[in-house]
Amino acid sequence: MPTETYIHNGPLVIGAGLAGLSVALNTAPRKTLVLAPVALGVACSSAWAQGGIAAALSPEDSPKAHALDTINAGAGIVDELAAKTLTEAGPQTVHRLKAMGAPFDHKTDGSFVLNREAAHGLARVARVGGDLAGKAILEAVVHRALNASHIDIWERAHALGLIKSANGVVIGALVQHTDRLVEVFAPVVILASGGSGGLFAVTTNPANLRGEGIAMAALAGAEIADPEFVQFHPTALKFGLDPAPLATEALRGEGATLIDQNGHRFVFDDHPDGELAPRDIVARAVHKADQSGGAFLDARTAIGEHFPAEFPTVFASCMSQGVDPRIQPMPVAPAAHYHMGGIKTDIFGQTTLPGLFAVGECACTGVHGANRLASNSLLEAAAFGERVGKAAIAGLGGDFTPDTAHALVPVLPPSLTESDLKALRDGMARDAGVVRNEAGLIRLLDLITDLDKRAHGALALVSARLIATCALHRRESRGSHYRSDYPQTEAVGARTFTNWAKVQNKT
Ligand code: SIN
Repeated sequence: MPTETYIHNGPLVIGAGLAGLSVALNTAPRKTLVLAPVALGVACSSAWAQGGIAAALSPEDSPKAHALDTINAGAGIVDELAAKTLTEAGPQTVHRLKAMGAPFDHKTDGSFVLNREAAHGLARVARVGGDLAGKAILEAVVHRALNASHIDIWERAHALGLIKSANGVVIGALVQHTDRLVEVFAPVVILASGGSGGLFAVTTNPANLRGEGIAMAALAGAEIADPEFVQFHPTALKFGLDPAPLATEALRGEGATLIDQNGHRFVFDDHPDGELAPRDIVARAVHKADQSGGAFLDARTAIGEHFPAEFPTVFASCMSQGVDPRIQPMPVAPAAHYHMGGIKTDIFGQTTLPGLFAVGECACTGVHGANRLASNSLLEAAAFGERVGKAAIAGLGGDFTPDTAHALVPVLPPSLTESDLKALRDGMARDAGVVRNEAGLIRLLDLITDLDKRAHGALALVSARLIATCALHRRESRGSHYRSDYPQTEAVGARTFTNWAKVQNKT
């Protein structure tokens, strides 16, 4: 296929979820090109978020208290400046989304309806339409983006690699746009390409999200932070579907209980907060119960007849599989849900490569540490998206005349065959899942090496290797990273900072 060249004199945003569109809405008047891998507003994790958006909105709450909960949940390695920046932006970000048309739920006195979720000290999660937060917020933002004259959107456009100048500045991306292959040149590139849940056999994410952003940045030489930290949501509905539908944590906030096959509330065996313990602890307890007979989320007493109105998405998922959550416990198991690690950035989204910014799930400011506080991710996408959009245009000059003849254009990465992708996803779920150990991680790295012989440089293999290698080398348990052979947590938490060259040398 002949490669076309397209020179765009403004920001190039890779990804069109809440983070990418929030960036684009803050880059006016610079003409901004947004790449959406599928049709706008669908199959991105933002649209699938159920619980809501965390922010200090009640008189009893404060950004400081929100920051403290964020830091405590993150198990000793949260970047405190990032946590402070995020939580201080919380209330204003929710009001901004509301002004754009996101129909937040309100009480009769006009205040926000707030859910309590795990590891939050109080009810702090603003909800929309019960469990429709992500979908409704994204709809409002998509509407705004479609009406912004400075934003151009290419749908069905996949970035396959980053283009650099001869002196190491990121100046564009190689893009598959429908049936064209295009070298898109731009004076600044922002990766907002989402997470990596699709690397795992069981995930709540759109299955096409396989850490492409982190892989492209790593291959271009960017520093990567904390890739071993992947959050597993404790309660994905266990119906054998791919992706696995989510049963939002807000259900537990409303009093739904976790029981085993004998009706025993097993999370209290591991933590005094039971169902509202930090997410990693609940995920491990659910994993254990699931392995020994089954885990169930029981909303019969706490929610009962209110279920369809309060949690329409979860209700529809259950009913479509013949489970009525008003009268039956729902079968659940953990599923890969959120990647805390990613492309290392500062609080303005600047990566270690000139010309490249990153934001949202593919980025790692350190705000989530080893375990993200529930419902902080929509806030991160919207609040940091705004900051990054403004930062990305701050240094842009008027003229952009790239030296296309001497640009370093990446080779087209191969795709995995369906059976190799299945082997990878099964291996990641088995060996880099809720419980990890050295033997399993070595077996996984051997598998990745083997698959790489048939699809050298496939982006999914790069991101899988980053996760598996750093999981092998973190010989402790911390937050979402649990090693059965190293169950202790080191007294002083250290973050992982690495790059693709180091990771390849380690395995
Ligand atoms: C949920 O609604 O349980 C998911 C919220 C989140 O992952 O932040």
